[in-house]
Amino acid sequence: MRILLTGGAGFMGSNMVQYLLKQYDDVEVINFDLLTYAGNLENLADIQDHPRYTFVKGDIADARAVEDVVSKGVDLLLNYAAETHVDRSLMDPRAFLHTNVYGTHTLLEAAKKYEVPRFVQISTDEVYGAVMEGESDEKSPFEPRSPYSASKAAADHLCHSYHISFGVPVMVTHSANFYGPYQFPEKLIPLFVCNLLEGKTVPIYGDGQQIREWIFTQDHCRAIDLIAQKGNAGETYNIGTGERLPNLEVTRKLLALTGRDDASMVFVKDRRGHDRRYALCSQKLRSELGWKPQMAFDDGLAQTVEWYRTNQPWVARCRSGEYQQYYQRQYQER
Ligand code: DAU
Repeated sequence: MRILLTGGAGFMGSNMVQYLLKQYDDVEVINFDLLTYAGNLENLADIQDHPRYTFVKGDIADARAVEDVVSKGVDLLLNYAAETHVDRSLMDPRAFLHTNVYGTHTLLEAAKKYEVPRFVQISTDEVYGAVMEGESDEKSPFEPRSPYSASKAAADHLCHSYHISFGVPVMVTHSANFYGPYQFPEKLIPLFVCNLLEGKTVPIYGDGQQIREWIFTQDHCRAIDLIAQKGNAGETYNIGTGERLPNLEVTRKLLALTGRDDASMVFVKDRRGHDRRYALCSQKLRSELGWKPQMAFDDGLAQTVEWYRTNQPWVARCRSGEYQQYYQRQYQER
């Protein structure tokens, strides 16, 4: 089975490449990635010479580059490629439209033309907007509130339209917040862990009472694998754990795991349009496909902190070059 996995050098994509090669003896994985700031082939160093693994550098919005791969035959397309960081989308939305909207459209066109038999779109719970009470299920309306979530919502609508209009067998997945090893240190957990391990402070946006739902990377890999094999074309699946915590509580757990105290927390200006709470109903995935999360948040968090503690050179390389400019700009704007 030939799997085209886009964005395979990023955090979630690289975890999935590793997962697929370990899990199956008969899959070939083509990792198609542009290697932008968060893409890192170091995440895949141990499998770079694997006989069933190929890397292709390319932009998912480049139709010729995409067709070059898809025309040779693809049994499953997993679209992990995306611009994902909300704060960056507030500073530079154009990159988000390019990759998330035009990129997904280019993949859908290629899937249609070359009749790719399965396509899974990796998307986010943020398309449902802030959920002040209860949970979002697959029928909840889209109410994206940041350029990032609006771009993902547009891509998800395109996926459904390509299923309805052209019969492209695509499934859309909405996931809670990922965390785990290899996550680029700009999102809450990896940023805070790296700062705390380096003796720095951590910036809490607003009052820190915003609620996020957390899923460990391996649990997400298993969910995507199941959906790719058993999901119904045209359907949407939420992937959530029910482990919902205010940011302040997550931060306090990280302080304890890194041996730091409350003095390391700095309350800064809130994010623009900051969504107060996300909460996913993932009953459909659990009852129809038999998935359930295996990693408790406290265990996953401890493993994650340990991984960053023992991979400081990896962190240092991520935190050079463009990273410094991004943070300088973000601090100027706060
Ligand atoms: O919900 C799924 C989404 O989770 C994914 O689709 C996105 O790609 C991913 O970036 C993530 O979005 P969030 O905005 O929830 O993640 P982030 O780690 O940026 O922020 C988590 C919470 O922590 C949020 O309430 C903002 C807050 N935060 C974040 C950062 C980076 C802080 O208080 N300080 C920070 O420095």
